[in-house]
Amino acid sequence: MSRAHNFSAGPAALPLEVLDTIREDLPDWQGTGMSIMEVSHRGKEFIELAARAESNLRTLLSVPDDYSVLFPQGGATMQFAMAPLNLAGPDDTVDYVLTGSWGKKAAGEAAKFCHVNLIADSSDKNFTYIPDESSWRHSESAAYLHFTPNETISGVEFHFVPEGDTPLVADMSSTILSRPVDVSRYGVIYAGAQKNIGPAGITVVIVRNDLLEKARNNIPHLMTWQAYAESDSMTNTPPTFAWYVADQVFQYLLRRGGLAAMAEINRRKASKLYTVIDASGLYSNPVSKDCRSWMNVPFVLADDSLDKTFLEKAASSGFVGLKGHRSVGGIRASMYNAVAEESVDALIEFMVEFERTNG
Ligand SMILES: Cc1ncc(COP(=O)(O)O)c(C=O)c1O
Repeated sequence: MSRAHNFSAGPAALPLEVLDTIREDLPDWQGTGMSIMEVSHRGKEFIELAARAESNLRTLLSVPDDYSVLFPQGGATMQFAMAPLNLAGPDDTVDYVLTGSWGKKAAGEAAKFCHVNLIADSSDKNFTYIPDESSWRHSESAAYLHFTPNETISGVEFHFVPEGDTPLVADMSSTILSRPVDVSRYGVIYAGAQKNIGPAGITVVIVRNDLLEKARNNIPHLMTWQAYAESDSMTNTPPTFAWYVADQVFQYLLRRGGLAAMAEINRRKASKLYTVIDASGLYSNPVSKDCRSWMNVPFVLADDSLDKTFLEKAASSGFVGLKGHRSVGGIRASMYNAVAEESVDALIEFMVEFERTNG
């Protein structure tokens, strides 16, 4: 069997250990004589799985007791709408910080439901920096402040948590579980699963309980966080397979030493790659050094006519998912938890050799 060096931005690599367990479990999960996809979500075994997944996620992220952990469907994009609908009325103002195209999409969705104030925006320099926090033009009484701790396309990551009393709503899709987080600093954290959690189809939402009360009363039941909180996320038939894989990933992360251990490896992987890029005459990364992402490293080649050759040679050497997002081009290496350090070392070796022969 040969496994690709998978640098995809998402859906992304899963740990081989988890894939092996899935393969073993598939025809007969927990002695039920059925696969996980064939069992009832109301059965004892699945209810135990769901409880374990929540409990392990709480342990990994040290989620305080006054927060609910929800597992809706719809991905992060659904949360772009659920955040304003659950936290703000039509006349309320909400603050958005734009450091990339996902934050921009989130703000665009919120603008359908309430007043959006863009309090900081780095689109003037192609989303390559985070505007200094002292320059943010906060609204007087915003219902919440939304930001994207890691912008997957531009590779811009907050290495700090914004200050202030306004509840923070964070789209952590591409950084959750990559390092410890002080959940108590946030009102709401949400993330699509298909990067560091498991397969697409399930979403994680962590919400401070007092904020559950703020939802509008005329929105669909399935778009109300409270509905998930009250039903252990069994509001309707949940994505059982995705939930099962997420449970396996959480167990795997705990076996590997939790998020402190992940942070150490992720910091090292990112630092190695940025060091090679910065020392090179061929590759460059446009993002300010103080906000470079550990998870997604975009870079361009000095001569962009070499992009195609780079990607072709990379593919024939076993590297996949390196093509930059279609909106920005270039190259992007996404290095989530399941991308082994050996894969990053192999990529670096490939890049150095490519520069030697093409630079
Ligand atoms: C930061 C961020 N937010 C939102 C999304 C959209 O996620 P989904 O496809 O789960 O709706 C993505 C997808 O890559 C993302 O990276």
